[in-house]
Amino acid sequence: MKTFFTILITLIICLSAEAFTTSTTTNAAALPPTQASWTTSSSTSLQMTVLSYNGKKKDFKAGSPLKTAVAQLGVKPRYSCKKGECATCQISLAGRMTKPCVAKVPPEPTLKSLKEKGLEIKA
Ligand code: FES
Repeated sequence: MKTFFTILITLIICLSAEAFTTSTTTNAAALPPTQASWTTSSSTSLQMTVLSYNGKKKDFKAGSPLKTAVAQLGVKPRYSCKKGECATCQISLAGRMTKPCVAKVPPEPTLKSLKEKGLEIKA
């Protein structure tokens, strides 16, 4: 009789453990694929940076070539080597001397005032 109860309790434990594992996998599989892809895309969302020159402001994708960004703002630096060696094209971007021939648009600043005002370019 004692062995019967032992076997019965063991059987109940095994069934309940199996029920938990199947319910967990069912929930994971039940997630819609669109929701999973939405979560992935939000982590790789586009980060835009506001650049300004002579009162003109424009949004640019962070990491895009700075050369095209400054051209769209109307800045016309002189280019010589176009390799980042001669510093002929240097401009001031948010107070830092930058070579637009090789530089990328920096990520958006974390300060709220700079986000609204944009990173100032001085040629
Ligand atoms: S053109 Fe020479 S450093 Fe930019």
